[in-house]
Amino acid sequence: MPIIKVENLVKRFGSITAVNNISFNVEEGAIFGFLGPNGAGKTTTISILCTLLGPTSGNARVNGYDCEKQSSSVRKSIGIVFQDTTLDKDLTAEENLLFHAYLYNVEKAERRKRVDDVLKLVDLFSRKDDLVKKFSGGMKRRLEVARGLIHRPKVLFLDEPTLGLDPQSRSNLWEFITALPGKYGVTIFMTTHYMDEAEVCDNIAIIDNGNIIAMNSPEELKKVIGGDVIYLKTRDNAKAKDVIKSALDIDASIRDGELFISTVKGDTCIPELIRMLGDSVLSVRLQRPTLNDVFLKLTGKAIRDEEGPDTDTIKAEVRAYRRRHD
Ligand SMILES: Nc1ncnc2c1ncn2[C@@H]1O[C@H](COP(=O)(O)OP(=O)(O)OP(=O)(O)O)[C@@H](O)[C@H]1O
Ligand SMILES: [Mg+2]
Repeated sequence: MPIIKVENLVKRFGSITAVNNISFNVEEGAIFGFLGPNGAGKTTTISILCTLLGPTSGNARVNGYDCEKQSSSVRKSIGIVFQDTTLDKDLTAEENLLFHAYLYNVEKAERRKRVDDVLKLVDLFSRKDDLVKKFSGGMKRRLEVARGLIHRPKVLFLDEPTLGLDPQSRSNLWEFITALPGKYGVTIFMTTHYMDEAEVCDNIAIIDNGNIIAMNSPEELKKVIGGDVIYLKTRDNAKAKDVIKSALDIDASIRDGELFISTVKGDTCIPELIRMLGDSVLSVRLQRPTLNDVFLKLTGKAIRDEEGPDTDTIKAEVRAYRRRHD
C-alpha cells in the first residue's frame, strides 16, 4: 500500500484554485518531489497532507490515515520542515530539539539520546549549545531537518528545504537528505523549484497552476525531450528558426536570445545546422536534457531557476533603510 495516497484533491481559496483535482501515490521509502514555479500549489498540497488545511474536495491519506478524519494519527506519522523557518532563535540548538521531543511525547529517558542522535546526523553536535540566532542559514535548515526526524516519522515533508542557501550548503543538505530513506526507512516528500534538486527524486510530479502536468522518474521525464538539446545563437534567430523548420522539419523555440532545438541525434544535427546557417552561427552547444528542458517543453515557459536572495539579508537592508529615513 502506498504511504501517501491522494485522490482528486481540490483546494480553492475564494476564486483561486490553488490545487486543481490532483491524484498521486508515493511508495514507502521513496523520495518524491513536487516541482513547480511560484504559486503552483506546492505548499497548499503539503499543508493538506500535513493536516494544516482541509481540502475543498477529494481525499488524502498518509500512512493509511485520512488527513481530515484522522488528523492526529497523521500528525504522529509525519515530520515537517516548513518553507519559512520556525526555529526559536533565542534557544540553543539542543533546547529547540528537546522542546520538540517534549511536544511529541518522546519519553523522558529517551529524549536526550534522540536529540544527540539527530544532532550527529546533521553534523551539528559540536554546536548544540550555541543559540540558533548565531547559526548560518544552512545550519538552521539542517537543524530543522533534525527536528523533523526526532519523533521518527514515517514521512518527512520538506517544503523548499534549500531556499536561500548558497550552492555549497544546498549540495551538502541534499547529501544527507538523500541518505535518510536508507538510514531510517523514512519517506521523503519534498517541494522545490530548483530543477537540479528534483533530479535526486525517485519520482517527480511537475505541477503548474494547480495541475499535475507530468509525473514520472527524472530519467523518464527527460525522455519527453526525446534526446539531446542544442542551444544555437545566430545573427538572426527568427530567420534561422524558419530555415530549420523548412530544411529539417524541426520546431525550434527562441529563449533568452538562443534557439532551443530538441533532437534525437545531437552530434550529427550540429554539422548540418552549421552547413545550413553558415556564417550566421555565433555559438552552439549540445546538452543532455535537464528537467528545466522538460518543464519548458511541457509548459512553453522556463521555471524560475535562479538563486533567490537571502531573506535575512533583505530584512536587514529594510531595517537599515528605515533607520536612515526615520
Ligand atoms: N491562505 C491562502 N489564501 C488565499 N490564497 C492562497 C492561500 N494560500 C495560497 N494561496 C494561493 O494559492 C496558490 C498556490 O499557492 P502555494 O503557496 O501553494 O504555491 P507554491 O507552489 O508553494 O509557491 P512557492 O514556490 O512560491 O512557494 C497561489 O495563487 C496563492 O496565492
Ligand atoms: Mg510554497
